[in-house]
Amino acid sequence: MSQAEDHASSRRDFLYYTTAGAGAVVTGAAVWPLIDQMNPSADVRALSAIFIDVSSVEVGTQLTVKWRGKPVFVRRRSQEEIDMARAVDLGDLVDQNAENANLPSTAKATDQNRTLDEAGEWLLMIGVCTHLGCVPIGNMSGDFGGWFCPCHGSHYDSAGRIRKGPAPRNLDIPVAKFVDDTTILVG
Ligand code: FES
Repeated sequence: MSQAEDHASSRRDFLYYTTAGAGAVVTGAAVWPLIDQMNPSADVRALSAIFIDVSSVEVGTQLTVKWRGKPVFVRRRSQEEIDMARAVDLGDLVDQNAENANLPSTAKATDQNRTLDEAGEWLLMIGVCTHLGCVPIGNMSGDFGGWFCPCHGSHYDSAGRIRKGPAPRNLDIPVAKFVDDTTILVG
């Protein structure tokens, strides 16, 4: 293959990866612009602390915003997702730490320790795979009804806890809280 053909081939491969949807995207750096364009809240700027208006987030959907240069997933979980997460035995978890910056570092990874509200409807996490930093696909993806990272096959459950694959830790939860019924402060 000539150098020109080789270049054209590489370019085709690149286009394939970047147009086939988030599932085929290889790196976080590649996937973020796609999500950024699709997201109605993409104009939220990457400030050190941001307010997120969640008034339009329907049950069973996810909003993705950018914070400190990273995607943040704000998922409004359905009762099915909540029930699935709460039925999990802690002993079945790869990472038994809540990985929640709002709680003591020793807090366990119960579903209640992962969510923003007591009912467990709101889950807010850094949308970066704890393996090598790709952006996992949501919408009840993967074998555990949560998120799936296509880069090397990590499966997270509906509480964002790692259940299968090479990722070592649950998806990180940043400092965040509701400041009124429909506004979350992150940072
Ligand atoms: S970066 Fe997600 S599985 Fe490797």
